[in-house]
Amino acid sequence: MKNLLKSLFAASVLMLSLGASAEEAQGPSLWDRLGGEPAARQIVADTYHNHKVNPIVKNRFEYSDDEYVKQRVYEIFAMATGAPDVTYDGDLAAIHKPMNINEMEFNAIVDDVMAALDKNNIGQQEKNEVLAILWGARPAIVNMNVTTEKLAPSAEEAAHAH
Ligand code: HEM
Repeated sequence: MKNLLKSLFAASVLMLSLGASAEEAQGPSLWDRLGGEPAARQIVADTYHNHKVNPIVKNRFEYSDDEYVKQRVYEIFAMATGAPDVTYDGDLAAIHKPMNINEMEFNAIVDDVMAALDKNNIGQQEKNEVLAILWGARPAIVNMNVTTEKLAPSAEEAAHAH
């Protein structure tokens, strides 16, 4: 009886600790680790400010409705980082396609986001995760016909060039 109680106790301790570690492994969302809405609003505002003074992209935003764009970017940033109650219902690819955006501009936008994360004291792990999200959006943003990959001759073309 004593042994039975002992092993029941051991089993429940084991289950409790497994439960706890499963929760730990999942951990708080990127959204929570960034600091939720106040931090996200500040990061978006700083990013947008960086675009407005970045010589590579500032002309793109010359005639933009600043508050509108910041709100939409806040929505997509929140959704992509795991905010429980924010959605973005626009179409990133459709909006950016007619702009014919090239790789240098894309990189400039990424730099602006990273600088905003630094300004808000976001840690390296979180920066890496945001970077991965941005990189995932690259095919929707950049006109892939003007990437250096497309401009460079393929190995076959290079071999046949005389
Ligand atoms: C991962 C990268 C990017 C994301 C997630 C992103 C996201 C967004 C979002 C959510 C909007 C608002 C669209 C809406 O009305 O629903 C927007 C607009 C815009 N984006 Fe991007 N964008 C990215 C990269 C770029 C790049 C590289 C450029 C060019 C330099 C760019 C230029 C613009 C411009 C000019 C607008 C329109 C502003 C306006 O309506 O006046 N974006 N972007």
